[in-house]
Parts: sequence; structure tokens; C-alpha cells
Amino acid sequence: MTIKAVVFDAYGTLFDVQSVARVTDAAFPGHGEVITQIWRLKQLEYTWLRALMGQYADFWTVTQDSLAYTLDTLGLVATPELVAQIAEAYDALALYPEALEALDALAPLRLAIFSNGSPAMLGRLVAQAGIESRLETVISVDEIGVYKPDPRGYRHVEARLGLGRDEILFVSSNGFDIAGARAHGFRVARIARLPADALRRELAGAATIGPALMFKALRLRPERLGFDADVTIAALTDLVALVAQGEDAWGR
Ligand code: LAC
Repeated sequence: MTIKAVVFDAYGTLFDVQSVARVTDAAFPGHGEVITQIWRLKQLEYTWLRALMGQYADFWTVTQDSLAYTLDTLGLVATPELVAQIAEAYDALALYPEALEALDALAPLRLAIFSNGSPAMLGRLVAQAGIESRLETVISVDEIGVYKPDPRGYRHVEARLGLGRDEILFVSSNGFDIAGARAHGFRVARIARLPADALRRELAGAATIGPALMFKALRLRPERLGFDADVTIAALTDLVALVAQGEDAWGR
């Protein structure tokens, strides 16, 4: 089967979640880095816990709860209004620099996002980045009420696009998402936002392992869950050549 649609994860894949550091540091000078890292770690942890508990609450709630947890842990005082205001940083994330060029070059294919984000958050995110017209659709886990990597999510993507699993190329930087998509049977490209040797060098050279480096070690590596990406790419623009290779790219 040839690839008919390319489906992108949003946070960490098309959009740089680290770009919230500017906002967290402006709100609590000197604490931006640690807030940013604990916040993102907790945010995803809450999605997994809520999925296991069968207690879905949308990503806007999870994003605010995980930020409130972080500030409370650090002894930083914030009103619910300030928490909401800082959380809005997730609606204004920077698009990775090569994303626009990649979306334009892939345009003959059907292009979509599949994300944990709530429809409202994703709507704002896509609008501020100016990529609405480049996407056929934006699919949120909110439509089924369970977070990634629950297999129902990836099945829902198939149903929404009306395609078979081997006609969809899924692209993510998030190890857990890659494992979930591969376990479902999608073709999966992992975008390595940090090359493995660069991380190893950083870890070896660090006198102490701070929050940003700890985050990288926990979240920017492929997971050992038995479902690896078919290919690893260094930039989203690498997808163009990959798709052009057709079946040869997949070796299965
Ligand atoms: C998303 C998370 C996984 O966009 O980054 O769904």
C-alpha cells in the first residue's frame, strides 16, 4: 500500500513545547526552566493516569492542573487566573522552523494532526501558526475521550480519514506516541529532536543533571516498549524523500 496521508502529532513534533519557558520565566523570574520541565512531565503523566483511571478531562484542564501542581511544589503562589494565563502559552507555541516547508512539500498528500490537545487549544495553536489551510483536518483525542497511547485513538484516526492503517504515515517525536502508533500498525517516522550522541555528550559532560537535561533523558529518547519507529528522521523535511521512496522505505 502507498501512503495516502501523513498524520502529525502536535506538541513536540510540529510545535516546540520548550518555547513556553519564556512565559514561565517572565511570570516567575529564575524559575522558568524548572517550571517548564516539571509542567510538561506532569502534563503527560496526568494524561496517562486519566486514561488508566477512565477519568477523561480535556487537555486544557490537564495543562492547568499540571501547572498548578508544579507551582505548588515549588512554593510559588499563583491565582487560578494567573495559572490560566500562563497555561495559554500552550496555545502560542513556536512552530519548528522546518515545519512549514515540510507541510508545503508534502501537500499533494492528505495532511492532518492527531493530538491530545483539546479542539479549542488545537484550533488556537494551528491558527496562530498560520497552518490551517495546509491541513485537511485536526483530530483530537477529545472526540473519543481517552488519551494517547490508548489504541482507540489510532483506530479513530483511521476511521476519520477513511483509510487503512498501512496507508497512514504517522509522525511523532514522543516515544510513547511512537510506540502506540506502531503497536496499532501505522507506518511511523520518529523525528529526533535531539540526536542520541548529542544527548550522550551532554549527559557525560554535565557536572550536575538539571531539569532540562533530565527532561531530555526521559522524553527525547525512543522507548523500550517493543514497538520502534520504522524510520528516524532529523528534520520534518526528510519526510518528502521518504514518501517518494514508496514501499522501499518500509522494508516490510
Ligand atoms: C500530542 C502530545 C502527545 O500532541 O504531544 O498529542
